[in-house]
This record gives sequence, C-alpha cells and structure tokens, in this order.
Amino acid sequence: MFPRVRLRRLRRLKIVRETRISVKDLILPVFVDETLEGRDKKKIEAMPGQFRFSLDSVVDEVSSAIDRGISSFLLFGIPLKKDDVGSEAFNSEGIVQRAVRRLKDEFDDIIVITDLCLCEYTTHGHCGLIDDRGEILNDETLDVLGKIAVSQAHAGADIVAPSGMMDGMVSAIRNALDDAGLKNTAIMSYSAKFHSSLYAPFREAAESAPVMGDRSTYQMDFANAREALREIQLDIEEGADIVMVKPALFYLDIISAARARFDVPIAAYNVSGEYSMIMTASERGFIDKNAAIIETLTAIKRAGADIIISYFAKDVADIIEMR
Ligand code: PBG
Ligand code: ZN
Repeated sequence: MFPRVRLRRLRRLKIVRETRISVKDLILPVFVDETLEGRDKKKIEAMPGQFRFSLDSVVDEVSSAIDRGISSFLLFGIPLKKDDVGSEAFNSEGIVQRAVRRLKDEFDDIIVITDLCLCEYTTHGHCGLIDDRGEILNDETLDVLGKIAVSQAHAGADIVAPSGMMDGMVSAIRNALDDAGLKNTAIMSYSAKFHSSLYAPFREAAESAPVMGDRSTYQMDFANAREALREIQLDIEEGADIVMVKPALFYLDIISAARARFDVPIAAYNVSGEYSMIMTASERGFIDKNAAIIETLTAIKRAGADIIISYFAKDVADIIEMR
C-alpha cells in the first residue's frame, strides 16, 4: 500500500516549523571608538556595512536598533590611549564606561552588556598581562579583570562578558563584583572560545590584534569538543549566569552538546568572519544575503542556543518585517 504517512503534506503549512528566530533572542555588538568626534562613524573595511561609532553616533545606532525591536547590546571600546596593562579598561571615564552611562541615560529597558577583556586596551594586544618574554600571566590578570568588571558595573552594565579565556576568570569577577556590592550584575562568560580564523575581521574593527604571537595558549584548540564541555562546566561552577560558545557556525556540535548537558542559558557568537563571508559572497552575487542570514541564525538556534550575538541583528528585524 502507498505510504499513509506523507511528510510532504505538512511542508506547505509553516505552522509546524520547529525553530523560529525572534529579535528578542538577539544581541547586537557595537564598537565605540574614543578617537571619533561629534556624530562621526567610521567604516570597518573588513566588515562591509559595519561601523565604529563615537559617543554621539552610538546613540543613533542603538536607537535605530531599538526601533527594530532589538533590546540588547554588547559594547566594545577602542580607547585613545593604550598601555601595557590596559589601564583604560578600568578607567571610570573610559570610553566603554561613558558609553554605558550615556545609553542607560538615554534609553529605558535596554540591556547593556560589556565585553570584558584587555586586548583592545593593551599595546601588545593580548587578552592578559604579559611578562618580558611574552608569557601570559594568568593569575595576575585576574585582579585586573575584577577591577574592569567593577568599573563597568558601576557605570551601569547589566551583564559583563569576559572574553579572554583566562583560567578562573569567572570566579575572580564574581568575587570582585560581590565584594563591591554589585550582586545583581550578571556574568555572560565566553566559556568555550576557540582559537579561530573567523575573528580576523573583528581585529580590524576593535584594533585588537596581538602584536606578537597568537592567542593559542589561552583560546581553545578547535579540534576539542570534550574540553569545551569542561570549560563550560567550570564556568558554571564558578558562577557564570550565561555561558557562550564562540564562534557559532563551525561549532554547532558544541552548542548542541552543551544544550543536552547543561541547563543554564546558552549564548552563541555569530562572529565577524561568519558575517563577512555572507556579506562578501552576497555582494558578488554568489548567494542570497537575506536567505543566508535567516538560515544561519535558525541553524544556530536549532542547535540549542537561546541567545545569539550577531552583527546581522538589524537585518534580521528587517527581513522578518518583510515576510
Ligand atoms: C577579544 C574578542 C574577540 C572577539 C570578541 N572579543 C577576538 C579575539 O579573540 O581575537 C571576536 C568577535 C568577532 O570576531 O566577531 N577578546
Ligand atoms: Zn581579548
């Protein structure tokens, strides 16, 4: 007998769609550049369609995202001055601290998340303090990360997001925040951050490329899945409120395994390289941009991510609106 079950029957009826993306799941990364004045913004060549913003123009950018229903923002700062210990990262008048205060003043009901790392603030461009031979000083870095967390939280950050892959960073930050009475500031840890070729465009955006060496002594080997789960587990034990897998697309198996094992919210970072691949291929007419965006983000959510950090956040809102 001809099969009674015909899966094509439902294919016309979109009601059975298992995974939907919403602007409410998305976080838009924004770069605030202390060297820009007035309402200036500066193109990021390696990320077509993305900009660095001044303190004034970032307000316009956030406002245009809010108009599209986006309510969460991840802030990166590019300071005027860098030094070998990244002092500008914990300056209460630093670029990120000022941007947080400005945005929190200007808009109600937005969630402001601050990237918490040293690489944009140090002359050497590493995510930790280094000694004179270029070795990363893990434990010495933890004190600085605690100071940065407290200053970002004092400025009004709802969530701090440590991205430097130092061992013990989450507990150091939780202790520093609690000691300062900042018990409601949440931590979204870049828990499983792989040493990836896909960050290259970001390093132009954030001016954070290491001057010598690379990040492979702290970021994870992309071959390791079990180790990623250990990193996530440790961060949960240390008090992370949200854990992150980064990048997203090449690491959907990690997201899926983390979803099966842990009950904390999982974020995935759809990184600069993932963005620029779609943008350049679509600019040349090889793929359809909007279709690729929705397929990409749906895949990340289907794998198990609750939250997606994406440079496409505003595009998604426009695409959903068009349908
Ligand atoms: C630095 C940092 C990086 C990203 C976020 N924070 C890059 C790196 O580790 O070199 C990557 C973001 C992206 O590629 O979109 N701590
Ligand atoms: Zn870093």
